[in-house]
Amino acid sequence: MKHSIPTVKLYNNVEMPQLGLGVYKAEEGNEVEEAVQAAIESGYRSIDTASFYGNEKGVGKAIEASGLPRKDVFLTTKLWNDDHGYEQTLKAFEKSRLQLSVDYIDLYLLHWPVPNKFEESWKALEKLYQEGFVRAIGVSNFHQSHLEQLSQTMQIKPMVNQVEFHPLLFQEELLEYCRMRDIQLQSWRPLTRGHLLEEPIIRKLAEKYEKTPAQIVLRWHIEQGVATIPKSVTPARIHSNADIFDFRLESEDIIAINQLNQGQRFGPHPDTFDYNG
Ligand SMILES: NC(=O)c1ccc[n+]([C@@H]2O[C@H](COP(=O)([O-])OP(=O)(O)OC[C@H]3O[C@@H](n4cnc5c(N)ncnc54)[C@H](OP(=O)(O)O)[C@@H]3O)[C@@H](O)[C@H]2O)c1
Repeated sequence: MKHSIPTVKLYNNVEMPQLGLGVYKAEEGNEVEEAVQAAIESGYRSIDTASFYGNEKGVGKAIEASGLPRKDVFLTTKLWNDDHGYEQTLKAFEKSRLQLSVDYIDLYLLHWPVPNKFEESWKALEKLYQEGFVRAIGVSNFHQSHLEQLSQTMQIKPMVNQVEFHPLLFQEELLEYCRMRDIQLQSWRPLTRGHLLEEPIIRKLAEKYEKTPAQIVLRWHIEQGVATIPKSVTPARIHSNADIFDFRLESEDIIAINQLNQGQRFGPHPDTFDYNG
């Protein structure tokens, strides 16, 4: 059975599926191709890759093999930290576009807020957007301070901010900040790579709703109005992770999950990330 995945409307009216497949750590070649194929068969219409993941070629190949019209797939990729700067960004974008073997990208993101560099790179994203090579542009791992800094020089506001976000790192202020500015928040590592799935409250709610712990956690993101991109290379998990649009969490259960927040990160903090490493 194919799932029907709703979209969120970005402020420029582009529709982005609220759930997509993340492919970080999915190996280039068969592994990533089979994961994308399984996702498309399950009804996914959004794939999140990055030049850093080294699997853009496989993602592009699987999309082409699916036979879906290009316009039916929402494709995201990202500018890696070594490629910042106006000209370098344009070059890196072109490389990603060719690897993916597509005429345009749906969403192009600055992967991290590399200090003293991201403003110039953003100008290149604005140019790509104005010239129609990307349908939407955005940032990733930007906190309020980075967004404030970008706002000093940008002409076009990011449409998306993709950040680490899950019940153990419920970044409510950042969510509200983005919401007020019409910037769609998208969560990475929504499943905390599995850590959260043993949590007693999550397990209890899984029993209550007759869903899996992963489905409870992903549904929580949907209830927050956040878009998300869980990763899996396991077809059964890919399928079940998208089976979250036939139920709602009651508000008391959302509150109970909110209370799991410990500000706990499973990935780097943008302000302490080793940008020279
Ligand atoms: N912008 C950024 O800086 C950034 C950073 C990190 C990630 N991301 C994006 O966000 C995506 C998701 O984040 P992530 O891959 O780090 O972590 P995640 O989605 O939270 O977790 C993925 C892990 O959970 C397992 N898993 C998936 N579904 C499961 C289920 N139903 N039950 C139990 N385990 C399950 C997967 O295993 P199997 O694959 O073996 O099934 C994999 O090991 C990435 O793939 C990437 O596209 C972006």
